[in-house]
Amino acid sequence: MADSDSERCPVHDWARDYDIFDPDYVRDPAPVWRELRERCPIAHTERWGGSWLPTRYAHLQQMVKMVPALSSASPLVVPPSPEMMEILEAETEKHGETSRTPPITSDPPRHRPYRRLIMPLFSPHAVEKHIPYTRSLCNRLIDGFIAGGRIDAAADYAEQITPRVIAHILGIDPARAEEFVGWVRGVLEIGLTEPDEMLRCRTAIRAFFQEMVTERRKNPCGDAISMLIDSEAEGEKLTDYRILGMCSLLLIAGIDTTWSAISSSLYHFATHPEDQARLRAEPELWPVAVEELLRFYSPVTMGRIVTEPVEIDGAEMQEGDRVLLNFPGANRDPEAFERADEVVLDRERNRHMAFGLGIHRCAGSNLARMEMQVALRTWFERIGAFELEDAEAVTWAGGQVRGPRRVPVRFEAAG
Ligand code: HEM
Repeated sequence: MADSDSERCPVHDWARDYDIFDPDYVRDPAPVWRELRERCPIAHTERWGGSWLPTRYAHLQQMVKMVPALSSASPLVVPPSPEMMEILEAETEKHGETSRTPPITSDPPRHRPYRRLIMPLFSPHAVEKHIPYTRSLCNRLIDGFIAGGRIDAAADYAEQITPRVIAHILGIDPARAEEFVGWVRGVLEIGLTEPDEMLRCRTAIRAFFQEMVTERRKNPCGDAISMLIDSEAEGEKLTDYRILGMCSLLLIAGIDTTWSAISSSLYHFATHPEDQARLRAEPELWPVAVEELLRFYSPVTMGRIVTEPVEIDGAEMQEGDRVLLNFPGANRDPEAFERADEVVLDRERNRHMAFGLGIHRCAGSNLARMEMQVALRTWFERIGAFELEDAEAVTWAGGQVRGPRRVPVRFEAAG
């Protein structure tokens, strides 16, 4: 990964030199996508290791089906650093394995058996069982700050929910939530531009799960890790290496994705009192409103690696190129959505791609939706009218997962 200061030069031509970490782009990428859709719908850059950025819904629909020409072998939005490459190559030699966190890093035919193993954890029925835990967690968090009349809705609410819920599901200690958040930010946020942090956090996550797997092999207890230890894929029991990879994926995928979606939603309501009032008056809108918030503030962009030369609408991609599946940009395409750049809480037709599309479509979407519903509805039940306390203090993270990290609000207790 390139990490020189030149990466931070201002962008003059977004079609040929975009910067996914440009602070204005991270704060609001929609104006750039609008311009690119018209002028150069699949943009290119040499920054951050080089990549292609599609912005039209139809192109994304096409690209998710191009498997394995667009491979999932390396789904981060930046390439591994040279130090990380060395580690990965050594692991490949030792374990004979290139898909490190299946199923998200696997192409067919390897993908399906691993996806099948984790899907039962996130079925509607399985997820429903976690509603009481999630609701009581949200209520406890609110109990802790309601008397004060002000709180950071991102850091002190959204960020506190998702690590505990996924820990609860995986059978690991929810009290270590802060540590999990640090690791996940190290891999998906800070580590994208600071390779040492990526390495440190990846190592910590794997060491943590190695300890858990060793312990569960001795004392199985019917939790998710014990289930994976007992499972088979491709006709064999899973090795520790594969179980560690799958657990790391579930922890990483389950935290800042949904936390970003919850904090974007609270940011939206804090800045749109009319939408806040509407949901208080029409709570039956929550399920469609959550879909619309997912569309508008879609947090997740995924990488693909080109494995053979392909041409899409004039963009000629070569073997080894990286493509960023810009689901958030596709979700703002006016060809696919009327009033695409507006939040329409009761939008009827909403075939958004926030959870991706195709064989890798989000395995945790039922869980994410449940967490959003419970977190937002519990907030609305307990917290009265709320607004941003300081618009300047709002900060956003971007790259792989986009969402606000600081959303200070003041509020009245609900009447
Ligand atoms: C609002 C929250 C979420 C969003 C927007 C989201 C988005 C996505 C997207 C776009 C993909 C497709 C990846 C690709 O095409 O390469 C994906 C895959 C995945 N997500 Fe989520 N996700 C969310 C929450 C979760 C949660 C809570 C979990 C639970 C652990 C989870 C687990 C996964 C897994 C395991 C995959 C890989 C599926 C596969 O490769 O077959 N996600 N997610």
